[in-house]
Formats: sequence, structure tokens, C-alpha cells
Amino acid sequence: MNLPEDLPKAELHLHIEGTLEPELAFALAARNGVTLPYADTDELRRAYLFSDLQSFLDVYYALTAVLRTEDDFAELADAYLARAAAQGVRHAEIFFDPQAHTARGVPLGTVVEGLGRALDRSEERHGVSTRLIMCFLRDQPADAAMETLDAAKPYLHRIAGVGLDSAEAGHPPSKFREVYEAAAALGLRKVAHAGEEGPPAYIREALDVLGVERVDHGLRAMEDPDLVDRLVRDRVPLTLCPLSNVRLRAVDVLEDHPLKAMLDAGLLATVNSDDPAYFGGYVGDTFHAVREALALTEDDLRTLARNSFQAAFLDDDEPRRARYLAEVDAYTFG
Ligand code: HPA
Ligand code: ZN
Repeated sequence: MNLPEDLPKAELHLHIEGTLEPELAFALAARNGVTLPYADTDELRRAYLFSDLQSFLDVYYALTAVLRTEDDFAELADAYLARAAAQGVRHAEIFFDPQAHTARGVPLGTVVEGLGRALDRSEERHGVSTRLIMCFLRDQPADAAMETLDAAKPYLHRIAGVGLDSAEAGHPPSKFREVYEAAAALGLRKVAHAGEEGPPAYIREALDVLGVERVDHGLRAMEDPDLVDRLVRDRVPLTLCPLSNVRLRAVDVLEDHPLKAMLDAGLLATVNSDDPAYFGGYVGDTFHAVREALALTEDDLRTLARNSFQAAFLDDDEPRRARYLAEVDAYTFG
């Protein structure tokens, strides 16, 4: 039986560190001699009651302590790709946070080569094509982002683009104007988290000052009708993460999520899992949850799947995009 959540799709908003399941975290902690501040996986899972973005980030950064070797990063990414493939993902654009690792003394090369090893065999093993997107931590100084971009120069063949994540409030996109200019000059694609907790003005800044091609989240765009008009007119993709928005209290309950209204407004909305080990589901689970909560139609679901491939960074492989879109069109529900 073809379940709606098994629709072929691309995942465009996924932090690889956010796929660290409690079981793997404890296994890596044991292997690397790291002591976690939680007795076991049950106690860790009980810490997943977040009040906002920062309360989640505190746990997320604490758990990165178990990731130390190339093998660790390769194992993490391979586990994600297997799960994603099982939920209909054909193409994944994967964020990573170099500064969360270099700050702990793990070299950037260890992170990129480890992730790269899993990504290199992803098509063969899992049938999932991939891109890697390097995120800067916006709550760190712009200089640190520039140093990270510099340090990434030997690995640019593995990196498709740059992003901006971590604590949003008080850290507007404009803080990173120079870094994004430098990234563009290196031929990197540009995205940024904006409007997750921050105001619609941050979405405008991401577009106008950083020149991003996609907005990650963009949830709060709906507060600004002129901005919505612009996003519709310019077909700017939004990578929404509904389960994340509920867990981090940006929306009270999934039934209140603006996803359906965004689709109806003609926005190029996509559905993604953000940090699935923490937020209660991978992207197929997310499709299932929003379908139930928002009474999405089969047309809505197919539109979301088509949008994900339209918004993917596949410009260098249009035949592949066309194949994926044809797969969505050929999919029969039920
Ligand atoms: N928002 C901002 N930064 C992040 C997130 C998120 O959901 N996950 C990992 N870093
Ligand atoms: Zn995110």
C-alpha cells in the first residue's frame, strides 16, 4: 500500500547533529570515553521537553560532545540516510554546524570527511542523492563565521552552500553580510534560518542583505502580507519544520500551524524535520502528522513533494530533478 507519507520527496532542512538518537549518543559516548550528564536514554529523552529554541540548543550542543572521529560522523550520517530513505526521501540537503565541533577541538576536516564518506555512498546504499550545507552559528561573532569559511576552503568540493542557524533573537542576518558575500564569491549557494523566532524583518534582511535563495523556516512571514506577496511572486522556497515549531513552542499545537494557509496563499512551502531525533519524527512522520492535523488533501501533499524538488539545489543536475518530479507525478495514493 502506498502511504501518503511515503511520497518521493527531498529533505531540505535537516541538521545532521539533530539526527543523533539517544541510543547512538550513548554508544558513541562509551566508545569515546565521554561522560554524558544523563544516566541513560530514558533520562535523556525526559530532557526533551523544550520551552523555546535556546532550551533545545543547550541539549543539542551538549550532546555533540560524543562526536569525535571521522567514523562517528560517518555513522551518524549513514543512520540518518537509512531512516530518510525508508520514509521516501530521494534527495537530502544536510546542514552541519562546524563551529559546534571546532570549538571542542575536533578539526573541520574530521567533520567534513566523516560526513562526506557517508554521503559518497548514499546513492548506492540508500538511493538518496545529497548536498552538504555548512551553517554558521549566528550567536557567535561574524569574525568566527569568516574564519570558518576560510577553514572550509580545502573542502569546498564537498560543500554546496552556506546557512545560518542557532539562537535567532538579537542576531539579525545583516550581522553576516560580509561572510555571505565571501561565500557567494566562492560559488556557494546561500540559505539562512529566518523567522523561526525572529520577526518578519529578519526574513527581509536574509533576502535583501544576504541574498539567500531559500528561507529556512520563514514561519513568521505570515505576519507580514506584503512579504508574503513578495515571497509568492519571487517563488522563494520556505523550508518549514512543523514538528520543530510545536516542540520549540513557536506554535501551540500542530492544528494551529500556518502550513495549510501558506500553501493556499501560493507560497513555495516545503515540509522538513529539522532535528528529528529531538522533535518526534523524521520527514515521513512529519508528512503524516501535518496531513492529519491540518486535513491536507492528496493535492496538498503532492504539491509539498513537488515543491521540495523544485526548491532543491539540483541546478547542476536538471535531468535528476525532472526524474524526481516525474516520480511524484506518477505516485498513486492508497
Ligand atoms: N533552529 C536554529 N538553529 C538550529 C536548529 C533550529 O531548529 N537546530 C539546530 N540548530
Ligand atoms: Zn533548523
